[in-house]
Parts: sequence; C-alpha cells; structure tokens
Amino acid sequence: MNGLPILDISGLCKSYGAVRAVDWVDLHVDRGEICGLIGPNGSGKSTFFDCVTGLARPSAGAVKLDGQDITGWSLNDIAREGRMLRSFQKTVVFSALDIEENLVIAGQMFTFPGIWSTFGIGAAARNRVAALRERARELIRIAGLWDVRFQPAGKLSGGQQKLIQFASMLMPEPKLILLDEPMAGINPKLIERVVESIRLANTSFGVSFLIIEHNIDVVTSLCKRVVVLDQGRKLAEGTPDEIVRNQAVREAYLGG
Ligand SMILES: Nc1ncnc2c1ncn2[C@@H]1O[C@H](COP(=O)(O)OP(=O)(O)OP(=O)(O)O)[C@@H](O)[C@H]1O
Ligand SMILES: [Mg+2]
Repeated sequence: MNGLPILDISGLCKSYGAVRAVDWVDLHVDRGEICGLIGPNGSGKSTFFDCVTGLARPSAGAVKLDGQDITGWSLNDIAREGRMLRSFQKTVVFSALDIEENLVIAGQMFTFPGIWSTFGIGAAARNRVAALRERARELIRIAGLWDVRFQPAGKLSGGQQKLIQFASMLMPEPKLILLDEPMAGINPKLIERVVESIRLANTSFGVSFLIIEHNIDVVTSLCKRVVVLDQGRKLAEGTPDEIVRNQAVREAYLGG
C-alpha cells in the first residue's frame, strides 16, 4: 500500500452552455476511505461523477486514479478495467435472472481477461465460472440476500435491487466505488443493510468509497470526511461534525 490517494481530482470543471455544473473542484479519496459528497439538488454532484467516470468529458481539470492520469478516458475504458465502478441514481438489474446469475454476469463482464474466457468448454473456463459463483455466493450473504437468491431480480423490491446492484459491483474486486444516492427510495430496515454492506466491503475487501447521499445520518455514520458542493463549487470540507455545524452549509443545504 502506498500513500497516494486512490482518487485525486484537481480543478475539475464542466459547463453545459451557460450552466457551470462543476466549477473548479479539487477532491481526493484516500485509500481505504469512505468519503461523502453532499449538497443541494442541482449542485453538480452527479455531473462530478459523470466527469470522473468518463460519462462526460470535463471542460478542464485532471483525474488521477491510483496515481494514473485517466482524464478524458471513455466510460468503457474506465469501467472495463474494473478498478473504479459507479452506480447511477436509477437502479439497473437483469430482471429475468436470479441474483446469483446477475452477479456472475457482472463478474464475467469485468474480470480479466474478459467475458469470453468464461465461455466454451474445458477445465479452465469451468474453473473461472466456479470461482465467480463462489464469490457471488459470498457477496449474496454479505448483502443479506441469501433467502431470496433464487428469485428473479425483477420481482424483488427496489431496495433489494439496490443491494443486488451493489453486490454486482463488488464482483470484479474494484479498488474504488462511487455511489450516487444509494439510499434513495429504500425503507429504514434496508438502509441499515446497505450501510452494513458498504462497511463490510470497506473493511473486509479494502474497497474505498465516494458516496453521494442526501440522508445525512447515513453520511455521518459511514464517512470520516465529507465534501459539500453548492452551485458547482466546493463550499466546505471536513468531518461530519464540522460539516453539520458549518453555518454556510446549514444555510445552503441543511436548512438554517
Ligand atoms: N447533460 C446535461 N445537460 C445540460 N445540463 C445538465 C446536464 N447534466 C446536468 N446538467 C445541469 O447541471 C447542474 C448540476 O446537475 P447534477 O445532476 O449534477 O446535480 P446533483 O447535485 O446531482 O443534483 P441531485 O441532488 O438533484 O441529484 C444542473 O443545473 C443540471 O440541470
Ligand atoms: Mg444527482
């Protein structure tokens, strides 16, 4: 392990016409850290993720992943490597497939040397699929989905589908995961489970996280450091305690 941040972003900007969606933001995530990213609706959080993960091209700035400059890389090039993965505000699963199949496919899509290596006959392909199935089962247990593992993913609740998506992201053994509002629309009991799954992925597998989340209790419980965006700019950065006491943050976001 070296001391470089797993993600190091400097001077990131993104404009859409006259809208400066992200305006000169510096942000880093340390190795092994769970960092929070919060701010009002429209403050540029998802756009920031888009620029970091190659979905949008930044107007300016630099993105370094694990010490490597990946600025301007395409979404496919970044995702295919499996080092940094992201979720979207909308959950996507393979509805007709059960949970284990969902996870195995996720593993096949990302795991080097790629999906084709798990097709075909022969011991090597069989061993790779067996290893993916074993990891899938471990992650299904961690996500608390063991009892419903044979059900089609599309028949499960929105919260359970979020857990499937989260477990799928762990299949390729990423170093960093960016989550966009993982708790949106799920009930308090499942929120606890998602929080616990994130914590376990962090402590057991060493995955670092950058999490956009409006549920401030979740942010406070998971993150040691929080960055606040407002109108595309970094408004504040600090421990959750410092952030909830910060007057500018209270006025812009937390409500007085
Ligand atoms: N593809 C796009 N084209 C034009 N404008 C965009 C585009 N994507 C985002 N924007 C604008 O950029 C600004 C930031 O939006 P963004 O979705 O990043 O905010 P957010 O902080 O994620 O908000 P929320 O909390 O509601 O998800 C908004 O004014 C939005 O309208
Ligand atoms: Mg958003």
